[in-house]
Amino acid sequence: MNKHIVVIEGDGIGPEVTAQAVRVLDAVAEQYNHEFTYEYCLMGACAIDQTGHPLPNDTIEACLRSDAVLFGAIGDPKYDNDPSAKVRPEQGLLQLRKSLQLFANIRPVSAYDALHHLSPLKTERIKGVDFIIYRELTGGIYFGEKTLSEDGNSASDNCVYSREEIERVAHLAFRHAQQRRKKLTLVDKANVLETSRLWRKIVQELAAQYPDVTLDYLFVDNAAMQIILNPAQFDVILTENMFGDIISDEASVISGSLGLLPSASIGKGAALFEPIHGSYPQAKGLDIANPIGAILSAAMLLDHLDMHTEAQAVRDAVQWTMTNGKVTKDINATNHYPTSVVGDIICRHITRKPIDKDGLKNLMLRLSTII
Ligand code: IPM
Ligand code: MN
Repeated sequence: MNKHIVVIEGDGIGPEVTAQAVRVLDAVAEQYNHEFTYEYCLMGACAIDQTGHPLPNDTIEACLRSDAVLFGAIGDPKYDNDPSAKVRPEQGLLQLRKSLQLFANIRPVSAYDALHHLSPLKTERIKGVDFIIYRELTGGIYFGEKTLSEDGNSASDNCVYSREEIERVAHLAFRHAQQRRKKLTLVDKANVLETSRLWRKIVQELAAQYPDVTLDYLFVDNAAMQIILNPAQFDVILTENMFGDIISDEASVISGSLGLLPSASIGKGAALFEPIHGSYPQAKGLDIANPIGAILSAAMLLDHLDMHTEAQAVRDAVQWTMTNGKVTKDINATNHYPTSVVGDIICRHITRKPIDKDGLKNLMLRLSTII
């Protein structure tokens, strides 16, 4: 297959983890005879520095023309503590989601057996955890009207949802539940919010079209508690934009490292794939960041383009590195490998040219002399 992929490296560790994901795609192309072409585009703080805008028009246009978008991370500390900043890196990502109509954000959460000890939860609680969060991504309070009074003493953010916005993401979540353990949990705040009551009504109506899926509901405050108390109860969670933002970060700690988790944002045209971690500026350029979240995002990209065997080969390679201790510092503080070496090992696993002990030693030696 020929596929054209836009690569947005972004800020902080974005470029270094994305570089490993691109190498993995190249390894897949080599092993399975595909041709992937890449177009590098700007977004985030680096785009503000170079063009004055967090999302240049060229980037939007390239994404619209592409088959898929691979994205690293966004954000820079120089904007975080300045509430008066007029332009922010995050605006770029929000605007890109809107421009590409990426209305569904999908975040799988699972716990690797080899990493149970890293989770803040007890092993018996995380055994068998395997769920997916469907977060609505282009509506709700994120995109409603915002006001700030002239005297600067009052402000508002409006939360609006339409039937169409709820239905389209709900259908995706129902269909995914059908392919899994057939359970869908809607997370809302229907005891307080009108928009949540609309979500419940519409999702309940749609349930008639999916009789094989069991639908249940949780208020978001209770859901936040259940994700910690009994995360294995979940199969597919469906929720609105801001609740999804919060509970997906909460759920991400179950696996033991934020660096492991991928995500996909899909909608009407080209979809976007990114690790869920942020730009981790302290680690920038040090070759220590975990590339697995980015690499598994590339696997989700392959699945989305119907290359399922290829996606599975990437996941198998990742699993192998984890079980064999070829991991970055966040996973093993005493015995760890650089970002680029983990990427290298995964590529070799995919192209069936495994690296032996001496090869690995030489690679590490070469790196240490370069650094
Ligand atoms: C995420 C991020 C974004 C969000 C930020 C960077 C705007 O936290 O993708 O979850 O809030 O959606
Ligand atoms: Mn978030």
